[in-house]
Amino acid sequence: MSGALTGGPGQAAPADLPGPAAPGTPPGRRPYPAYPLLSPDDVPGYLESRGLSSLLGGTAGGPLTVREVSDGNLNRIFLVRRDPDVPGLAVKQALPWVRVHGESWPLTPYRAAAEARAYEHLARVAPEFVPAYHGYDPATFTLVMEDLGDLDVLRAASIAGRSPGDTGAQVGVFVARLAFATSDFGMSSAGRKKLIAESVNPELCELTEDVVLTEPYIEHEHNGHHPALDALVREVRADPELRREAARLKHLFTTKAEALIHGDLHSGSVMVGGGRVAVIDPEFSFVGPIGFDLGLFWANALIAAIRGDVLGSSGLGAEHLAQVAASWEAFTGEFQRSWPTRADGFYPDSYLAEFLRGVWHDGLGYAGSEAMRRAVGYAHAADLETLPEPERPIAAARVVRLARELITRRHGYDRPDALARLLREV
Ligand SMILES: Nc1ncnc2c1ncn2[C@@H]1O[C@H](COP(=O)(O)OP(=O)(O)OP(=O)(O)O)[C@@H](O)[C@H]1O
Ligand SMILES: [Mg+2]
Repeated sequence: MSGALTGGPGQAAPADLPGPAAPGTPPGRRPYPAYPLLSPDDVPGYLESRGLSSLLGGTAGGPLTVREVSDGNLNRIFLVRRDPDVPGLAVKQALPWVRVHGESWPLTPYRAAAEARAYEHLARVAPEFVPAYHGYDPATFTLVMEDLGDLDVLRAASIAGRSPGDTGAQVGVFVARLAFATSDFGMSSAGRKKLIAESVNPELCELTEDVVLTEPYIEHEHNGHHPALDALVREVRADPELRREAARLKHLFTTKAEALIHGDLHSGSVMVGGGRVAVIDPEFSFVGPIGFDLGLFWANALIAAIRGDVLGSSGLGAEHLAQVAASWEAFTGEFQRSWPTRADGFYPDSYLAEFLRGVWHDGLGYAGSEAMRRAVGYAHAADLETLPEPERPIAAARVVRLARELITRRHGYDRPDALARLLREV
């Protein structure tokens, strides 16, 4: 490996626990050992050193090809192939900062340990919905997994005008499998306490608390919006009811330890193609509210629906909107199927309906949080940003009004079909 040596405070820390703060470590930041950053040239030798090269498919005899495909904000991803046409392995390394900002925005590389932990659970409870997972190297904060090179990122497919098909139904089953298995219904009391302790993810949770659940409601340098939305954004930020409900959702996020969640289930974390739906990037995973995963998926389906509408493809818009109902039905169906196997028979059947109602309303609220953030906060949805004028601000304003309604009046919506009317009204 020849990559630059990155500066941690130079002090080894266990993979999943904060080490003692080294001199010069800013308060609240976990020290991490210095580690080499992989360059594309390093990756073949790196795979060899981990004994993983034999997992590369294909029969071509030449040198391996390595292609960097980092299109997210945070990490570096390399796709490695023996044969250019045969998917091989994906190598994902966490940098000690936010990739698109560089060293000016430090971020713990221990996020890779959180992603690895999540994949270990997912490989057990939902293997068909994730890339095959080939392990984590704590010394370099690097994961190796199946190359999903034949699949496309759902957000990109939606922007290209492709139908979402049955993606929602599959994502609903995915969320239910993870949620049930890691909730008090799927685990013993003692096992759950261990899971909660092992899965703390303080830095990434704080990032969500800031960027998704706080900053969109205040003036902040991370935020941005189209100038045509100035008056609407001022009005929204001055709305005391919205502030109170946004605060309630933030507090729910920090306190409602229902199940291990993915934590970042937007349409950039779902890959689709060839009849397969695969969920990637669970680095924000921790034990939190189940509705957060559903809500992020719903917000991005609703944004895609609004994009379809403003471009005049109402059929496609309706298909994206239908993903909300499809995922909810699949989620509840799978959860109900697992219910008879619950670990604690004290919970009666009558509690299940009440529990699911709570998840639904939390999901609507978090759909609002995510929609608001994707229109006026940090990291806007490409579905909106790639629209032409004047559709771009028209769509963004609809997203803001939708978000405000979902956050403030989520308890007034009891069924997915009510969302069609809401979408028309905004
Ligand atoms: N296993 C995989 N197979 C093929 N491509 C992949 C795989 N994992 C990731 N990618 C590609 O790399 C991109 C970035 O991956 P990922 O979302 O995990 O990175 P990230 O930096 O954590 O992104 P984000 O900013 O959303 O957190 C994906 O959008 C996808 O194009
Ligand atoms: Mg990520």
